[in-house]
Amino acid sequence: MPEAAYEARDQPSVAMLPSVARSSSSVSVVRHLNAHLMTISPLADLPDAIETLAQWFYDEWHAFDGRRMENIATQLSENLNRDVMPITFVAHRNRLPLGSVSLDRFDFPAFDYLSPWLSSLYVHPSFRGQGIGSSLVRHLQHFAVSHGTGPIYLWTPGSTRLYERCGWVEFTSATYGAQRVKVMQFSNE
Ligand SMILES: CC(C)(COP(=O)(O)OP(=O)(O)OC[C@H]1O[C@@H](n2cnc3c(N)ncnc32)[C@H](O)[C@@H]1OP(=O)(O)O)[C@@H](O)C(=O)NCCC(=O)NCCS
Repeated sequence: MPEAAYEARDQPSVAMLPSVARSSSSVSVVRHLNAHLMTISPLADLPDAIETLAQWFYDEWHAFDGRRMENIATQLSENLNRDVMPITFVAHRNRLPLGSVSLDRFDFPAFDYLSPWLSSLYVHPSFRGQGIGSSLVRHLQHFAVSHGTGPIYLWTPGSTRLYERCGWVEFTSATYGAQRVKVMQFSNE
């Protein structure tokens, strides 16, 4: 995709999370209330978050992709863009990272003829199940559509429900490493 297609500015957005049922545990009520309002910003606006994200990705995916933390941090530092790919978005509350997602040119060597890819969707375990992952996916979709990309792709070895709710459809099945995965597509057409 030509970088010139990325001319419009992508403004940070405030995403309202779905209301959360009150719990009898004051600790969990406080956590939900605190997580209620979040902002999604390009990683370029929070470069200090790279260290946290690199640690998260290492812990979550090192067993699968074998990447060292320094390599993950280096790759993230290549995503410090606001209007062009590769770009990473961070969900945060008062600059405290809650989760992130990236839009990359490539993410699956066997399908390098397809581009771009939603990758590295991650929400810290303390904040899961509150709509943050879905908000990140929708934010990335909005960015891609408003910047004139064609379809976006992702691969997942796990549940496809979150993505289906955001408008994604299964594109094909494949093997990545030793895993059976689904390749999904989001198209605005
Ligand atoms: C996937 C993930 C980002 C979801 O974040 P979240 O903030 O909890 O997402 P939401 O609250 O918007 O949605 C929750 C839904 O995600 C689903 N989900 C959990 N793990 C998932 C996964 N690995 N892939 C896809 N969906 C997943 C939950 O089952 C839930 O669906 P349900 O409401 O139908 O039960 C988070 O669980 C995570 O970081 N997991 C570890 C990293 C990962 O697996 N990333 C996806 C790689 S393809």
